[in-house]
Amino acid sequence: MAGMPFPAATSTNDEGHLVVDGCDLVEIAAEFGTPAYLFSVSEMRSRARAYLEAFSARSDRFEVLFASKALPVTAAYRLFAEQGLSVDVASGGELTMALAAGYDPQRIYMHGNNKTDKELELADRSGVGTLIVDSFDEIERCERILDRKVDAMVRVTPGIEPSTHDYIQTGQIDSKFGFGLEDGSAEAAIDRVLGSDRLELVGLHCHIGSQIFAIEPFRLAVEALATIAGDWCQMVNLGGGLGISYLSEDDPPEIEEYVELKVEAVKRCFGDGVRIQVEPGRSLVGTAGLTVYTIGTVKRIPGVRTYVAVDGGMSDNLRPMLYDARYEAVLADRPEREGDTEVTVAGSHCESGDILIRDVSLPDPAVGDILVIPATGAYGYAMANNYNGMPRPPVVFLDDGSASAVVRRETWQDLMARDR
Ligand code: LLP
Repeated sequence: MAGMPFPAATSTNDEGHLVVDGCDLVEIAAEFGTPAYLFSVSEMRSRARAYLEAFSARSDRFEVLFASKALPVTAAYRLFAEQGLSVDVASGGELTMALAAGYDPQRIYMHGNNKTDKELELADRSGVGTLIVDSFDEIERCERILDRKVDAMVRVTPGIEPSTHDYIQTGQIDSKFGFGLEDGSAEAAIDRVLGSDRLELVGLHCHIGSQIFAIEPFRLAVEALATIAGDWCQMVNLGGGLGISYLSEDDPPEIEEYVELKVEAVKRCFGDGVRIQVEPGRSLVGTAGLTVYTIGTVKRIPGVRTYVAVDGGMSDNLRPMLYDARYEAVLADRPEREGDTEVTVAGSHCESGDILIRDVSLPDPAVGDILVIPATGAYGYAMANNYNGMPRPPVVFLDDGSASAVVRRETWQDLMARDR
């Protein structure tokens, strides 16, 4: 277990069981059932604090936004609002959840490469503070729909390619997002918004990708943005993107290094007067979350492989299938026991590719054992689905010895709730 990406408040108790935020995960699995998404509240709070402290040590003009796509749960919006974070929403649905959680609309930043009329109407009506404008069509749509003048930032694709999975790179020129720098569309968009009677240009935005370990490209992105900034530019939002550990061997940069680099680059290229914003998702919630499953079958194919099947899979964690994402696992009642059996952890879905972990060593895994996969907090619940009629797991917050389901488990009946 040493080195694995568990929350800081992880230990074992006298029985040798895994304990997170004071909760015994064997008991939690029995109480809430499996599969279940568990979150360490202390870890989410301390990651948020790490961002705020890193900034306040270096600047008094900054804002940290929770990129809520990573964990769109009202309790998470509430938690980060309480911590003093603003919020990034990427759809009318996320906006509705942020408002329901009590977010001050002024602190809501609305994204989306194809915001619909309905979404813009909701943003208008609910008093959303800032729109991140993504296309010329959207600018026209805003002018047709908005009843008030709304602050806007222009989303720029600066032509920087960080090294991460192709599907989660977003800053390259060949992208569906934002306005390109090289082809002059970013400057054209700036002129267009400056001339708008419904949008008030206040800054620039860019997000170059996600799960990034090599942070140098962020500096290049700031330098690129600075080439088109004018005196209207009061804030610059550099997106999220900081990578986290999924495996013991991963060694992502600290939040402080990431903040240091961004603050230095913005001060140097834009001066002290500009407010710097970041919008982390994964690095706030990723390692705070873990998923617990029950092992249902152990299939030994002599000389080939041992499959351990759990009661979830690609419906609660699409990342292995979508991105070849890799994870590690332990057993909740003996996390410290050395692994002796090399297994493949499979899900319960009707697809051979429904594999959660290709090779992992576990201590004699058996039917009924509780398998725990760490670092599933970001984009797991967010991308959950009902493939094979699988109800989505509950979201359980663990906080100082108490556990509460902030999202209940879906039921079989829920699967028909919208049927006519
Ligand atoms: N801001 C914008 C405009 C974004 O598009 C994203 C993520 C973020 C902030 C937050 O980035 P983060 O700090 O989480 O890297 N489903 C994928 C990740 C997609 C990220 C999309 N945009 C995954 O499971 O890895």
